[in-house]
Amino acid sequence: MSTLTNKRILLGVTGGIAAYKSAEVLRRLQDQGADVRVVMTRAATEFITPLTLQALSGHPVHLDLLDTETESVMGHIELARWADLILIAPASANFMARLAQGHGDDLLTTICLAALGPIAVAPAMNQGMWANAATQENVTALEQQGIKLFGPDQGLQACGETGLGRLLDIEGIVDLTAGLFATGLLTGKKVLITAGPTQEAIDPVRYISNHSSGKQGYSLAAAAIDAGAEVVLISGPTSLEPPDRVKIRRVISADDMQRAVMSEIAECDIFIGVAAVADFKPVQSVDQKIKKGEAPSNQVMRIDLIENPDIIAGVAQLDSRPFTVGFAAETENVVTYARRKLEKKNLDMVIANDVSDQSIGFNSDENRITVIWRGDPDNEIQLPVASKRNIAARIIELIAEKLPA
Ligand code: C5P
Repeated sequence: MSTLTNKRILLGVTGGIAAYKSAEVLRRLQDQGADVRVVMTRAATEFITPLTLQALSGHPVHLDLLDTETESVMGHIELARWADLILIAPASANFMARLAQGHGDDLLTTICLAALGPIAVAPAMNQGMWANAATQENVTALEQQGIKLFGPDQGLQACGETGLGRLLDIEGIVDLTAGLFATGLLTGKKVLITAGPTQEAIDPVRYISNHSSGKQGYSLAAAAIDAGAEVVLISGPTSLEPPDRVKIRRVISADDMQRAVMSEIAECDIFIGVAAVADFKPVQSVDQKIKKGEAPSNQVMRIDLIENPDIIAGVAQLDSRPFTVGFAAETENVVTYARRKLEKKNLDMVIANDVSDQSIGFNSDENRITVIWRGDPDNEIQLPVASKRNIAARIIELIAEKLPA
């Protein structure tokens, strides 16, 4: 199983003879399970047609910053946020210069400027252009900005010259791309994650629940797998496919979830409680469906509720407790309430998010969070809006950083 499975890769194609190889790069990334969308510079379209890359990717190819049609399908900011990685292959000398200087004068450079996730470039150019001092300065600038360089390779070039500047072989590009997602940060660690809502039965056909989609918890499970961890995901009812290599245990109610957590917690290094556990359950769940007709019309229906166990607080009280991470979904005073939760539930880290904003949180694909942890005085970091997948990768990095040695 590849670390590229279900990864979203924005393939940028720039204008050089090696642009024809981008079709093969796209294919091989797809072979590894990646979802690839393509952005081409105008010059790239002189070397390979957008139609080819559109047919192979199964999505419209994005060409212009001000193209109302493709912008309405997915605008440049959305594309930047959608991507788990932006891979520019091939990257021309001119594109690298513009990227190094922070230009935003076409679609691809603008997307790179707006990107919150990683960017990698696979240069391809004449050996003299590669060796040129200006190009080398740009390479240094790109590396300083944290942009990864894949290649270039040595060998015979399309212009007939031999030297450094060829596009790295496609297998090499795909391997390095896959390697970016395999951080190894949690190698040898066991991670237990709860996700999704719980359902609390009123009778055999009705229940109390909430709007949690499970997306953030499932993304964290995938990110922990990519970081080399052994992952157990205890999920309430969701419509999501569990990530590969994750041991999934499906549960319905908070009581079920608590039992499953306690049976898996031994030898667990990290516990991440993402589930939106229902705070209350009906005192009694009756065996037969409650009939409407049996009550006089307009009768008030009463369901007495009792508190559910606090799963994460139970984990945090264990003698040999794992590094315990909770979520705090709030609608006001988000950080203040999250800090209180850190103390009250005796957690090691809290991820706070504002669920009053409809564009982030619960059912959305995006999130904006603040991470708070114990210990050092500078113990708060706010992450800007990004896809739940990118956020998950950042949370895993932070957990790995704060985990006691
Ligand atoms: O108390 P509150 O529901 O706001 O706390 C949220 C955090 O606590 C989340 O990490 C959630 O998974 C966890 N939680 C829990 N058991 C509950 C309620 C919340 O584990 N009964």
